[in-house]
Amino acid sequence: MARAAAPLLPFFFLLLSSTSPAAAQKNLLGRTPQMGWNSWNHFGCKIDEVIIRKIADAMVDTGLAKLGYEYINLDDCWASHDRDSQGNLAANGTAFPSGMRALADYVHGKGLKLGLYGDAGLRTCSRLQPGSLGYEDQDARTLAAWGIDYLKYDNCNNQNISPLTRYNRMSEALMNSGRDVFLSLCEWGVDDPATWAGSFANSWRTTEDIKNTWESMTDNADKNDKWAPYAGPGGWNDPDMLEVGNGGMTIEEYRSHFSIWALVKAPLILGCDISSMSAETKEIITNQNVIAVNQDKLGVQGRKVQQDGDLEVWAGRLSRGRVALVLWNRGPAEASITASWSNIGLNQSAVVDAHDLWTDEVTSSMQGNLTNKMDSHACKMYVLTPK
Ligand code: GLA
Repeated sequence: MARAAAPLLPFFFLLLSSTSPAAAQKNLLGRTPQMGWNSWNHFGCKIDEVIIRKIADAMVDTGLAKLGYEYINLDDCWASHDRDSQGNLAANGTAFPSGMRALADYVHGKGLKLGLYGDAGLRTCSRLQPGSLGYEDQDARTLAAWGIDYLKYDNCNNQNISPLTRYNRMSEALMNSGRDVFLSLCEWGVDDPATWAGSFANSWRTTEDIKNTWESMTDNADKNDKWAPYAGPGGWNDPDMLEVGNGGMTIEEYRSHFSIWALVKAPLILGCDISSMSAETKEIITNQNVIAVNQDKLGVQGRKVQQDGDLEVWAGRLSRGRVALVLWNRGPAEASITASWSNIGLNQSAVVDAHDLWTDEVTSSMQGNLTNKMDSHACKMYVLTPK
């Protein structure tokens, strides 16, 4: 057995190099997971410049911008049905009469950044606007001319051309456009993008679309988990945008959603109407302790490390030897969960201070394990700092 295993190694490296893209040079964006807002989960196709300006205003006025949320991203349905006479993408003139340059100026004037949605196929998923396949250079130049900072790049109507080819082309076009544009791939995890997108994209979806339900959210968290080794500064796994505040889950389920997304270094892209959010929603998405875990410089994606039926422990390394920990009761009744140091990357003898990130209480000098009780679908989240 041992003798047979040895020759596999060079072969493995050969495989790796032959599937690598003709590496486009990569931008320096996304050193920590991107934070911002996207129109799709709440507004769908019903977007216009009045709504987007209101969202940009709210981002600043509610204090979200100060916490790091910076991108205002328009999803599908911002563009007119057809290209203009020069073959350029154009904003939908009814919904965005002032045009995208003016919207970018408005958003930039608030200290924020503007993102757009496109598609690596013939038409976008709504089919209401053109895709960029075959127009990559021209569209990248248009985005740069408008002052766009972020492209979410979808996968519909793709003519069965390899995703690696299609996505790499847009990455090169953006790199040649003269503007730094964050590239967020939306390939739904079909062709395991974690294994090839890191050299030219800043994030890549690992799952199908999130729905505003507990089942969908937990399913996406689980599917995203196995790609953890591929995430790091500059390139992140994306289990899809946040549903917090959209009404399909309980407050404790939303708290779990936000906690796990933060722990696994997922993009924190808000999906609710932040211009009219409830106090509970605001309390969740503005928790600075939890955001700090997501934005930790080390950039290590936390993982599910312990499971006993519905009772789970997720954990990940943070900078300065600290550990982020989530106890998550996914069962139907109140339950108690114990995380043992040996499962979360600490020496069994380590003595830590445990900061509960939701109550903001610190318990000092804990050793060996940590136990807490929580309601159905609720979680507890901590940062453990060794003494
Ligand atoms: C796909 C994407 C979604 C959203 C819609 C828009 O389904 O995965 O996130 O962008 O298209 O049509």
